[in-house]
Amino acid sequence: MSDIYKTKSPYIGEKIKLRPLEKDDLDDIMEHWNTYESRIGLGLLIPMSSMMEAEFIESVHNKAKSGKEYVFAIEEISTENFLGTCGIGTINSVSRSAELGITIHNPANHSKGYGTDTMRCLISFGFNILNLHRIELLVMEYNERAIHVYNKVGFKEVGRKREAHFLQGIYYDVVVMDILEDEFRKIYSE
Ligand SMILES: CC(C)(COP(=O)(O)OP(=O)(O)OC[C@H]1O[C@@H](n2cnc3c(N)ncnc32)[C@H](O)[C@@H]1OP(=O)(O)O)[C@@H](O)C(=O)NCCC(=O)NCCS
Repeated sequence: MSDIYKTKSPYIGEKIKLRPLEKDDLDDIMEHWNTYESRIGLGLLIPMSSMMEAEFIESVHNKAKSGKEYVFAIEEISTENFLGTCGIGTINSVSRSAELGITIHNPANHSKGYGTDTMRCLISFGFNILNLHRIELLVMEYNERAIHVYNKVGFKEVGRKREAHFLQGIYYDVVVMDILEDEFRKIYSE
């Protein structure tokens, strides 16, 4: 029974840790949140005001209280710097299925391993804490770095919303990827 205290925290990775999003994070969020390059990756092309973001933080607090969605700040362990946000939402308690999202805000922090580390923590949170059966995500077909990371941590492409995303005169597919609980257990117990 006491071995339970020796299990790995899903909130602490090798480089990052996940913690609840706070009102005080607003300034850090606004610093890079409207960077067009990151917004292209997300497919959210319209900038957000600090008022909209403050409302979002408030809504996150309420959704977490009702068990509908959990959003975390991603913090670098060594510096405690704010790196971005991630979360699991659209939780269906019958099928135990949910949707995941992630953003490392500052493009200067991309491709440094933070996203992979965050994804591993977040899916461990989903399966080991929320007891989910399936986690899904949506990603733009041109977001090759994200797709690479998602494949690396165990997600598989399961379909496409064809030409569902419009950007600068071109329609792009939105790729649907998912990971099942038994796949997670197989990969992460090896
Ligand atoms: C997508 C995102 C979360 C990935 O996190 P990250 O910290 O940049 O990724 P990591 O450093 O952990 O890993 C990047 C991997 O992609 C690879 N990569 C980088 N650019 C690539 C590209 N253009 N095509 C394919 N792979 C690429 C890197 O080599 C690395 O792989 P490796 O570890 O096997 O060598 C992050 O870049 C991000 O937040 N981008 C902006 C917002 C976004 O797109 N969010 C996802 C929406 S679905």
